[in-house]
Amino acid sequence: MSKNNNQILQQRKGIILAGGSGTRLSPVTRGVCKQLLPIYDKPMIYYPLSVIMLSGVRQIAIITTPEDRESFTRLLGDGSQWGLSFEYLVQDRPEGLAHAYILAEEFLDGSPSIMALGDNIFFGPGLTTLLLEYNNVQSGAVIFGYQVNDPKRFGVIEFDQSGHVKSIEEKPQHPKSNYAITGLYMMDASAPSRAKKVKPSQRGELEITCLLNTYLEEQNLFLQKFNRGFAWLDTGTHESMLDASNFVRTIQTQQGFIVGSPEEVAFRHGWISEKDLHASIENQIKSEYGKNLLKIVPGS
Ligand code: DAU
Repeated sequence: MSKNNNQILQQRKGIILAGGSGTRLSPVTRGVCKQLLPIYDKPMIYYPLSVIMLSGVRQIAIITTPEDRESFTRLLGDGSQWGLSFEYLVQDRPEGLAHAYILAEEFLDGSPSIMALGDNIFFGPGLTTLLLEYNNVQSGAVIFGYQVNDPKRFGVIEFDQSGHVKSIEEKPQHPKSNYAITGLYMMDASAPSRAKKVKPSQRGELEITCLLNTYLEEQNLFLQKFNRGFAWLDTGTHESMLDASNFVRTIQTQQGFIVGSPEEVAFRHGWISEKDLHASIENQIKSEYGKNLLKIVPGS
């Protein structure tokens, strides 16, 4: 990586959106919020957190409901155990995905951002390289598309043969393609001021698609498709949570990789030392997760 790249990486900041009401998972989410529920052997939020870390970003805002803030703090602390720095921001009501950029305006302080939804899992070859490449995009927004069978459940992207975005729509009745907008967004420094101009939709939310449309109108919205063999899982329903757990279990037991481990990403980036890694393993050695971490210790 060039020196120039490093300078750019330091500037981008991360956001994880982990609020919302979790009504689709009721009654489970009456006691625990969705993003703290397990996906196989670790809390759901570890997965989007690891993706942001893979992109090289270390300053991350975590958006939670007022009630769940304490639980997130107990789980994740201030991030220093992984060489990160966390800031917790409270969203009083689920006012929509674009609302995150208004809440995070002060935290971002003029930096470009990468935002991941707290219930999205990404796994596949080339992800780190791809994210590092897009870190160079200082103007405009990048969305990541994935082919799905049921596009009506998602934001949907219409694009031409060369991959230029023609339109995006939130949960359309008549989808113009079967490409969903996944819950990973890279935006330039203008995102908060754009978000402030978005009007609430019929369901009373500041829709991410409206924010993205402001970039599209300026022909400054870029689409990166995830190809075959890549896995994207939105874990917002009981069925998809189970599918995701089975997926993670299969990869981890068959191939021996750990999916979504902040310890692993931090260690591979050189943000924590081997000694730190050992300390973290010792703390959780009784669990399957802790035992799996032994696999990343050099020479093991
Ligand atoms: O998963 C990808 C999809 O995520 C995209 O294709 C859609 O364009 C996008 O709108 C979003 O749709 P969902 O229906 O899945 O969004 P949901 O309401 O489930 O919220 C996604 C995450 O964001 C979830 O972890 C809860 C959190 N959230 C949501 C809202 C509305 C917040 O933290 N605050 C909020 O105000």
